[in-house]
Amino acid sequence: MTHFSDWPSLTNACLQCRACGLCETRTNVVVGVGPETAEVLFIGEGPGENEDLQGEPFVGRGGKLLDLALHAVGLDRHRNIYIANAVKCRPPKNRDPLPEEQAACAHWLEDQIALLDPKIVVCLGRVSACRMIKEDFKVTREHGLFFEKDGRLYTGFLHPAAILRDPRKKEEWFADFVKLREKIAEVCEHTAPIDPAEFA
Ligand code: URA
Repeated sequence: MTHFSDWPSLTNACLQCRACGLCETRTNVVVGVGPETAEVLFIGEGPGENEDLQGEPFVGRGGKLLDLALHAVGLDRHRNIYIANAVKCRPPKNRDPLPEEQAACAHWLEDQIALLDPKIVVCLGRVSACRMIKEDFKVTREHGLFFEKDGRLYTGFLHPAAILRDPRKKEEWFADFVKLREKIAEVCEHTAPIDPAEFA
């Protein structure tokens, strides 16, 4: 169930949200980025400093790495996937969002999922995967596996920040994107991979 019948009303309402104290310290609400017809949704945790300043998810160093991995398998945030965060406003000094802040924010992501109706949901990092897939999701052991829930496929990937911290994990991270490309070919109807040469 969504409270919104179209994206402009959802986006406008989200941009004006004052449901928790984070509205006092944020620069921008980070609603999400991507076409409203995307069949694949990526979900991060919440905006950091760069995202707060620019109003877009994953625009820092981790975001650049994410774009590289996406482009390698023909995916792009402006053309065939949507990227959102579980929490839409940056907590001061990057502290974890409080339980009441998370609770106040949760319906925005639910509304986005209801409106987008994605075939595949990719959770970036443990926090996002534990929230969306199962409470005890073990990202080191279960990353890249697909779980069926509510008629959609969910998977959890390592967070780009984890790859920046430990670049030795890059290969297994990329392998999950390749598996994702295969799953997209299997279950998505109109997500044609973009020729990676277009991003070179
Ligand atoms: N980390 C996240 O989880 N989301 C962002 O948008 C940026 C960094």
